[in-house]
Order: sequence, then C-alpha cells, then structure tokens
Amino acid sequence: MADDAHSLFGRPATRIDGPAKVTGAARYASDEPVPNPAYAVLVTSTIARGRILTIHLDAARAVRGVQDILTHENVGAEAKPPAQMDGGPTTTTLETEQVWHDGQIIAVVVADTFEAASEAASSVRVDYAAETPSATFDSAGAETELAREQGKPKDGPKVGDAETAFAAAPVKIDARYSTPTQHHNPIELFTTTCVWDGPTLTIYEGSQSMYGLKANVAEQLGIDPSRVRTVSHYVGGAFGSRGGTTSRTAWIAIAARRLNRPVKLVATRDQGFTIATYRAETRQRVRLGATRDGKLTAFSHEGWEVTSRPSGYNVSGVDTTARMYACPNIASQVSVVHADRNTPGFMRAPPDTPYMFALESAMDELAYALAMDPIELRRLNDTQTDPVSGKPYSSRSLMKCFDQAAEKFGWKSRNPAPRSMRDGDWLIGWGCATSCYPSNIGPAAIRIALSPDGHALVQLAAHEIGTGAYTTVGLTVAHALGLDLKNVQVMLGDSALPPVTVAGGSNNAATTVSVAVKACEQARSRLAIAAVADMASPFHGFDPMSLKLEDGSLIGPGGAREGLDKAIGRVGGGVLEIHAENVPDGLPPTALQGLYKGRAAMSRGNARKDVTAYAFGAHFVEVRVHRLTRETRATRVVSAFASGTIVNPLTAYSQYMGGTIWGLSSALHEATEIDRGAARYVNDNLADYLIPVNADIPDLEVILVQEDDDRVNPLGVKGIGEIGIVGMNAAVANAVFHATGVRLRDLPVRPEKLL
Ligand code: MOS
Repeated sequence: MADDAHSLFGRPATRIDGPAKVTGAARYASDEPVPNPAYAVLVTSTIARGRILTIHLDAARAVRGVQDILTHENVGAEAKPPAQMDGGPTTTTLETEQVWHDGQIIAVVVADTFEAASEAASSVRVDYAAETPSATFDSAGAETELAREQGKPKDGPKVGDAETAFAAAPVKIDARYSTPTQHHNPIELFTTTCVWDGPTLTIYEGSQSMYGLKANVAEQLGIDPSRVRTVSHYVGGAFGSRGGTTSRTAWIAIAARRLNRPVKLVATRDQGFTIATYRAETRQRVRLGATRDGKLTAFSHEGWEVTSRPSGYNVSGVDTTARMYACPNIASQVSVVHADRNTPGFMRAPPDTPYMFALESAMDELAYALAMDPIELRRLNDTQTDPVSGKPYSSRSLMKCFDQAAEKFGWKSRNPAPRSMRDGDWLIGWGCATSCYPSNIGPAAIRIALSPDGHALVQLAAHEIGTGAYTTVGLTVAHALGLDLKNVQVMLGDSALPPVTVAGGSNNAATTVSVAVKACEQARSRLAIAAVADMASPFHGFDPMSLKLEDGSLIGPGGAREGLDKAIGRVGGGVLEIHAENVPDGLPPTALQGLYKGRAAMSRGNARKDVTAYAFGAHFVEVRVHRLTRETRATRVVSAFASGTIVNPLTAYSQYMGGTIWGLSSALHEATEIDRGAARYVNDNLADYLIPVNADIPDLEVILVQEDDDRVNPLGVKGIGEIGIVGMNAAVANAVFHATGVRLRDLPVRPEKLL
C-alpha cells in the first residue's frame, strides 16, 4: 500500500479555499451571522495577585442598552473552570474572587451594541485586596519546583553518567541560555459566539480541537456533550493558542442562556495576551563534554520555565535535545518557576523552539572550541539510533539537509574566524543550526459520499488553521478515488462531522491523509468486490485488488472499464457512503472512544515503542551587523527539510517558509516585556510587540529534501507545520557571533546586547 500511496502525492495544487479567502467569502467564527446578537465585552483585573473585595456595577448598569453583567458574585457557581492541558487548575477564571494574574477576566458585560458594552465595561470599578506579585525568574516569592507530570516528578532523559563523563572530558562547554516570553498574536482575535436553540448550544469559535472544545464546554456547563456543537470553518491563525479551552467560552454560553439571545464576544488584542496562553520564558544550562577530535562524551541539559501559580505547565524540550546526537552519557532535568502569571501553553514547536536554541548554540560554541567546522561537528555526532532509547530513527536525513543547504548557501567560502567578513560598515556573519520536529499522528474518523456523477463529499472535523488542510484532504481523496479535485467538496471544522484529534504537534496532515486514504480504499474495494462478482460486468472473475478508480471510472487490467454510475448502482443506493476510522500504530484502540469524547490522543514521534520518528532540517543564515549601531539584519537564509512524504509541495513550501520567517522573528524581534513590579505585560499590542515586516525578511530559500520513510506510518507523512521555526534562533545567534565575536545567549537579539 505504501508504494501506491506515495505515488498519489507530490503534485502541487493551489488551495481550494484560496478564492474564498481572498474574496472575503470565507467565514471566520465571528463572521457567522446570528440573529439579533447581544455583544459581550470583558472586564479584566488590574492587579496580578490578591482578591476582589467589591465590584461596583451601578455606573455600568446605568449605560443605555446594557442587558447583563456577569461576575463571580452572580454566576460564579454556574461553570466549572475548563480542564487545563496539564490537568491542573486554570487561572483565567470568573468563579471566585481570587485574582491569579494581571488581565484575568473578572466580569462580562453584555449589551445591545458593542459600543454600549464597551462603555459599560469601562465604567466597572473594582476594589481589590492587592498583594505584591511575583513576575518571573528572580522575583521575590517565585517558587521553583521540579517539573511534574500527573502529579509525579517528571524525569528527563538519562543515560550513563553524564556528571563523571563531563568532569573527565578534555573539551568542555558549560553555558547558560535564556529565551523570552512570546505571544502568538494570531491575526484573528479571540472570539466566541454562542447561540442556544432550546437545550442545544452552538459555539462559533476558532479552534484547533472541535471535539475537545465541545467536550470541555459541556463539562464546564454540566450538560451532555450531545447538546453542544462547535463550528470553526476557518481559523485565522492559531499556532497553539487555540488548542486548549479557555474560560471565556463557557461564560459567553452562560450569558447567552441568561438572556435567551445569541451573544458575541470579540476580545481586544491586549486582552489576548492574558485570556489565552503564551510561550513562557525559559532559562537553560547546557554542558557538553567532547574528545579532542569532537566526539560527544557528555551531554547535560537543565531547563527552568515560568508558569502560573497553580499550574505546573511545562514543555520540557530536553526530550528532544537529548536525542539529537550520539552521546553515551546524558542527563537532563526541567523545573518550573511559579509566578503570578496566566498559565502558559503551546506555541509553535513549544518544547523544541526554546530548547534547541540552547543545544544548537552550545554545539556552535563547541565547534569553535575545537576549531572545527560546525557542519562537520554535527556529521561526526550524527546517528541513526536514538541515543536515549536505543531505537532506530524511522528515518533521519539530517546530514542530507545540511549538505544540500550548505551547497546552495555557499558555505565553503566562509572564513570561520569571527569578524573576518565585512562589507563597509557592516560585519557579515554566517551561521547554521539543526532543525527537527517529532513526527506525530493521531486518531481520526471520516465520512465520504461518492456520487454516481463523479462527485465526492468529504466530511471530517479537522481544522483549517491556515495550513491548507482543505487542500491536502481534497487532493488525497481526488487522487485515491480517481476524481477531479474540483469535484471533491471538503467540509471541516464542525463537531457535527466525524472527529479528528487536535490539530497540534504538526500531526494534521499525517492524521487526516491516513484516514482519508483508508476510506478511499474501502470505497474502491466495495466497488471492486461487487464488480468482480457480477457476471454481467466486464470485470467478472478478476482479482478485486487489480481494479482501480481512475478518471471517474472503475478500471481493470486489459483496459476493462465502466463508469462510476454503473459501479455504484451495483452496490445499491444512489450514493456510496463510506465511514472510516483510523487509530495509528502505537495508540490503544480506546483512543477512538476517547476521540469521540473529545480526548486528543496522539502517537508521539519521541515516545514510540518501535522507532523514534522525527523530521529533520538545517538552517543557514547570513546576518549583517552594523559596526557602530549594532543594528542587526538577516540578509540571506537557506533552509532544507526532510519530512517524509510531501502531500502538496505548494502548501508544504509555504509552511516551511512561514515557519522559517517566524524563526527569524523569534530570534530578532519578538519578546513580551514584563513590568516586574506589576507583573504586567507592557507591549500588549501589535505596535509594540515587534514582528517582522516584509523589509525585515531577506532572500529566503527553502529546499524540500527527498525522503522515503515507510516506518513512520504507512504513508510516510511526517508533518511540516512546526519544523521551520526550530533552530532558526540558534542559526541567527551563531551568525551574530561569527559577525561580531559576541556570543548572544539571551534572546532576542538586541543592539544593546552587542555593544
Ligand atoms: Mo502547535 S503549538 O502544536 O498548535
């Protein structure tokens, strides 16, 4: 099956939802028309720690058009806080007088117009019993503890005796790195629209988990999940911020129920910084021990991550870094630091982005300590075996990526000495780093209806978060059923459709394409089995496996063919309906029942029994740093990635490129600044939170490296959504070192750090 399946893919197709998106016909959640909506505006806390004493609502209630104001006093008991990704309690709540962080939702004002709701929200006054908050690392009162998982201390990978090996190593690197708080800032704001129809609730909200959102909100409201439907046909960026359920959704549902009227919330940009999740700041220490010729003998990686007071959320990227290179002695450990902050969460390649910065910077430092080319250092320590588990990589084309990208970049002509390359007042630096991302796949179900006229309707509750999901699913079905892509209609983003696991961990393509191929194979085999059994058919007596669906026909060996109308007519009913489910290897069959109940199971590439499955890549960056001002510009990027089977090279290219650009942004621009006294985000808007504009993005080349992998999953699809960002931060910092001789171990790159 794998070979056939591979041949289905690889032809580029433009997005089938492209015209809808560019003409504005595509409806994002808050675009859905609902009858006579009331508008909700959030009131958020202005302290980061303490209690609400009194909420004064008189002035707000006096605003014309105000219908209702929800606070912990009048609806506190009506909803449970949503389940958090780590199972811990949530912070952004409305159910008690407790304030966990700045910007916490403390009231929801509902009015006939958005303007009235906004005016009323701004007239709410609150008396607090405020306490001094702890903002982050080194703040008084911040509490450090070892990371835990389901209540138990979580062990990072360990092999051999890293301590002793490090002490004995002839060449050593011992360095500390840090990465900042960052926010996703998807262009689509955080919105929720709730409509009750009798006992049934419809929620329009951009989400990466239609069934997860449905199950979580039902649980919060104490109603049966069958009474909740979630709809999100298009998502205007998510990057992890819409993977979990936040508390606002249940409150809007309650507001709509109290008023018996649809309620719509479009939260503001600054509220998005505190009512959803973010990438927490980290500190890390990496120790590398090596022989004089560059073989790693010891690797130790410690991490510290900021989280909220009650939650133990952590990303623990040592699970990735410990597996990157051959090394007989490995130690790792992650701690969390509790502060008075909202709970962090997934943000694009959550573990790998910050932790690979530390590892790939340290590898560059080691290359300099050894006077060795950084590519050759990685080649020397490359491995086809996961050094933690001893299992083989399903496939690993890391050095192929380095070699192809290095060639395109012209790495050979690099003078390795820092400050050796110049163009007038600009110091030029070239750096590189490894990129990687675990290959994950989840359970899914699908329904396909194939009509006699050669049209297919494909339905599954997968998620279009900007990645091109409509197109990859449509292409797969078109190829597998022998139809024209324009005759395949794909429906996604609705919990009334068969469930698909959360669109996270770059699993979407592998998950949806696998279940789609399974359904198409069922369709083909039902038509084929009926056809070979039919004495009147041209296929009578053929092996059903020899029949194919192509060009809108059933085709047999020797040119026997018949139209779909005949083939489908034979199996009865006007339309051939297929319902298929897929549980990938490595997950228990119960994952499917869990899926229907909204539990997002995933087979993780770094936690499998048989193999370790990662996609790999290599980034090459040229920076120019001004000799005097230290202005830093990325001027050239070449990145190469090998991620198994590519379903659609066009959308794959755009994912890689987008990820790579975000990697540059993450290194050179993005940081959420925190007022340490108030534990408050300062630059909570798109004017002050720096993101690149076109002029910041240089010539950028992406190479799709050919890779076949029949062990990762039957179709060989590894996933590409997150790998682009990983390692880019280190490649930039390594290039900055080459340009200036200054080793930046603290992101983002800022001129003042280079003086
Ligand atoms: Mo992604 S951060 O796994 O949505």
